[in-house]
Amino acid sequence: MALSTRARRIRLALLSAVIAFVGVPALGAATAPSAQALGNGLAATPQMGFNDWNAYGCDVSESLIKSTALAMHNDGMQAAGYQYVNIDDCWLNKSRDAAGQLVPDPAKFPDGISGTAAYVHSLGLKLGIYEDAGTATCAGYPGSLGHETTDAKSFAAWGVDYLKYDNCNNQGISAQTRYTAMRDALKATGRPILFSLCSWGQESVWTWGAGVGNSWRTTGDISANFASMLSIFHQNVTLAQFAGPGGWNDPDMLEIGNGMSTTENRSEFSLWAEMAAPLIAGTNIAGATSTTVGILTNKAVIAVDQDSLGKQGREVSSSGGLDVLAKPLANGDVSVALFNETGATATITTSAAAIGKSGASHYTLTNLWTGATSTTTGTISASVPAHGTVLYRVAG
Ligand code: GLA
Repeated sequence: MALSTRARRIRLALLSAVIAFVGVPALGAATAPSAQALGNGLAATPQMGFNDWNAYGCDVSESLIKSTALAMHNDGMQAAGYQYVNIDDCWLNKSRDAAGQLVPDPAKFPDGISGTAAYVHSLGLKLGIYEDAGTATCAGYPGSLGHETTDAKSFAAWGVDYLKYDNCNNQGISAQTRYTAMRDALKATGRPILFSLCSWGQESVWTWGAGVGNSWRTTGDISANFASMLSIFHQNVTLAQFAGPGGWNDPDMLEIGNGMSTTENRSEFSLWAEMAAPLIAGTNIAGATSTTVGILTNKAVIAVDQDSLGKQGREVSSSGGLDVLAKPLANGDVSVALFNETGATATITTSAAAIGKSGASHYTLTNLWTGATSTTTGTISASVPAHGTVLYRVAG
């Protein structure tokens, strides 16, 4: 009884929030929100950082977050642009306190979230946290539905810089309504908090995400194998028109270092960069091999992802498992990904004209994994290993 009354009250509160929202003429349905509509000044380029979920699941702790932050500080990741150290699900107690506030699990976080944030900040990094736009998180901890104001205030008071907001146990209430409620609660705190919508593509989130968050998950969860990565790539690559500075399509966190081959890991990093995706490392950073760190810190590939023009690369052609993507860059160059989905080496060919370059007598191609340069009068072609990607920057 008590529960259903409470649920009804929540629904009513949310309904009046929607009415208030759609009642404002400037936000009417006639104009789609622009990429700048959220206007919190964050994620002018896709966010970069770490999140513990892919490698550790529920085994998050203050010591893991601190040791990961220190490793990022020392191994070149921070210098390469990784900024956010993000806590995923399972960081909190199973019940709220008497005042209705979330409580960090004291066994996992003896210094609380604020103590963890202070350490991460002392390294020049930022701290992210996880909550859920439902009655409980996916792992069954208290959710923020109906508690948005209280929880946003806690996050701000603790010094949190980033919120990943999940979609479990959502009571069938519209995602746009639930995510907008937290957007407004975060804004009301006055602290800049990057807002990452983890709504798995629900209600075609890409059509309204830019007005609500800085990024939005376009798919279900990734796992550490090529088939999963490939399926997510295919879903996310079609959504280029919806991404831009301040609001990005999110094909989920990176699985580099978690079991795919080196060739496949390089493909994931190339494709995520070409799609201007958030680059959230998801492996054991302190224990990562130099090969894994080398992939995650490839500056030339990161520069493609972080390019200030903020265009998501588009598919130029895709046939027989051979894909060509082109991403225009701020200085007039174009980055081109030649991706071989198949199980055998293949030659992939495109042209300067097909990727949007014309008028020059020749073009310079820089291979962003080997650093090798070559010139062409128009043909762009490479032999690409099974599951591999050749990534070129094309100038001229
Ligand atoms: C969902 C999200 C994942 C992760 C888990 C945590 O599945 O999509 O990224 O946050 O919940 O429970």
